[in-house]
Amino acid sequence: MGTVILGTGSCLPKRVVTNVELESVVETDDEWIRTRTGIVTRRVSGKGEHTYQLAAEAARRALAAADVSPEEIGLVVVGTISSHMQMPSSACFVQDEIGAVNAFAYDLNAACSGFLFGLDLADKYISLDHSMKVLIIGAEALSSRLDYKDRNTCILFGDGAGAAVLGYSDSDRGIIGTHMLSDGSLWKLLHMHGPESSNPDLAEENWTGAYIRMEGREVFKHAIRAMEGSVRSLLESEGISLDSVDLVIPHQANTRILNKLIKRLELPQRKVFINVPKYGNTSAASIPIALDEANDSGLIAKGDTVLFCSFGGGFTWGAALIKW
Ligand code: COA
Repeated sequence: MGTVILGTGSCLPKRVVTNVELESVVETDDEWIRTRTGIVTRRVSGKGEHTYQLAAEAARRALAAADVSPEEIGLVVVGTISSHMQMPSSACFVQDEIGAVNAFAYDLNAACSGFLFGLDLADKYISLDHSMKVLIIGAEALSSRLDYKDRNTCILFGDGAGAAVLGYSDSDRGIIGTHMLSDGSLWKLLHMHGPESSNPDLAEENWTGAYIRMEGREVFKHAIRAMEGSVRSLLESEGISLDSVDLVIPHQANTRILNKLIKRLELPQRKVFINVPKYGNTSAASIPIALDEANDSGLIAKGDTVLFCSFGGGFTWGAALIKW
């Protein structure tokens, strides 16, 4: 009995950018990107593909899959770090675009953990009000926040959106548990400044443009340690063994991180859904896009135990278990 996912949807920008195309933008090469990250292509937003527009389309598809009307939605949350405006939120734009006239709406900034933190939030709302239906979306147009002179970052990220409609079910299915953590002390390792301050007293001394900056090696180590820790803590607190998990849908950071995690957790490769070679790291959108693809391909059956784990800037990280 609990919060179930009633439907999923996703939306990717049309433009596909290959590693070879990036060779003419920054000093890099296809071979380096493939071996270090596993990424082959990523999607890049064009006209009409702002974060909220991708989010709204993913939401429409999730609503159709769930057979839920926009008017039934009580809350819209968009996990994003690349909204096209600081105010209003992407969630408010989505609320208007899809006609969720009975919903309140806001964005959630937990970087790549945005969707999982949103899932946890929806679970709490729904457990207090069983009539509530919640739309959780992860959406990014990170191409607008990349420094295309910085080869450490611009090759890694991509754009897209994924959505899930959540509601209450009195069956034995639903969210089993979550384990979420943050550590703000390590913010410098992965961050993105806001706009340059117009108040000289608040101007940042080391403002380096409103782009993603990253210490790749450090992030790599922390990401594996954090996700492994969260997964183990959650399974232990729920008394569930990894053997009884049917599918793992991790944050699609890059193939090397995922392979290391798979090894550390001693997971069979076939149990882990990976689509990062196609889309790169789409931050908050990565888990819901992967979930929608796995769901659409028939990889998840009713009653399956699905495990999610994420890691992102903040640092923020966590894991969630759901009986589908
Ligand atoms: N193309 C070619 N060379 C590149 C490059 C690129 N796109 N990016 C960096 N390099 C170079 C570096 O400048 C460095 O050269 P140097 O030795 O002459 O200084 C060399 O490659 C090694 O760099 P390093 O950063 O040590 O590589 P790495 O093996 O750690 O791989 C990452 C880099 C970014 C792929 C890896 O650290 C990583 O996956 N980090 C986690 C990133 C991530 O997932 N972040 C988001 C988490 S949500």
